[in-house]
Amino acid sequence: MSKTDKTFNVDLIKVGDLSFSKFIDAADIEIKVQEIADSIREDYHEKHPMFLVVMNGAFIFAADMIRKLDFPCELNFVRIKSYHGTETTGKVDIYMPPNLNLQNRHLIIVEDIIDTGNTMAAFIPELKLHKPASLAITSILVKPEAHLHDFITDYPGFIIPNKFVVGYGLDYDGMGRNLKDLYQLSMT
Ligand code: IMP
Ligand code: MG
Repeated sequence: MSKTDKTFNVDLIKVGDLSFSKFIDAADIEIKVQEIADSIREDYHEKHPMFLVVMNGAFIFAADMIRKLDFPCELNFVRIKSYHGTETTGKVDIYMPPNLNLQNRHLIIVEDIIDTGNTMAAFIPELKLHKPASLAITSILVKPEAHLHDFITDYPGFIIPNKFVVGYGLDYDGMGRNLKDLYQLSMT
């Protein structure tokens, strides 16, 4: 079945070998991103924050969110690679831009999803070594049932059940990032 098929139900799609069903519509995502931007505006409009966008998944959320802000801010990308084979250790590799001065800066980490929390649990202590003025997290999706760590997502988007999702920047096996809506793994 392809998207051009006349009988194709756009609420059910195939990404790689798996079926996904429509979960959160682009219009609802836009409303949520605006709410997050409004909260961040209230707290940071005089603080000249620096956003640290976790590649690759957060790129669309970050692009949408920062264009809703009307005050000075900066943005950099970081790459954090987690090893799913060794989830219990939560071992991750962190790649930051060289010569990035984070001291006394108000940092806001931008994530696509907080799942086990392993990524943030490794990244936060690393960032604290740079002695920032403050540190906060925003994520368009949060899966509390999957959390293995105790921490708060300061600016959460949608709180979702522990099911795999794709779209709006999130991938399955490298595919599906370009979908404008969010889709959830379908049991059918
Ligand atoms: P963590 O388990 O919180 O460390 O999340 C690690 C990363 O796994 C996230 O930043 C996402 O890039 C990816 N991830 C976790 N859950 C999903 C999902 O449901 N769909 C796509 N990617 C996911
Ligand atoms: Mg991610």
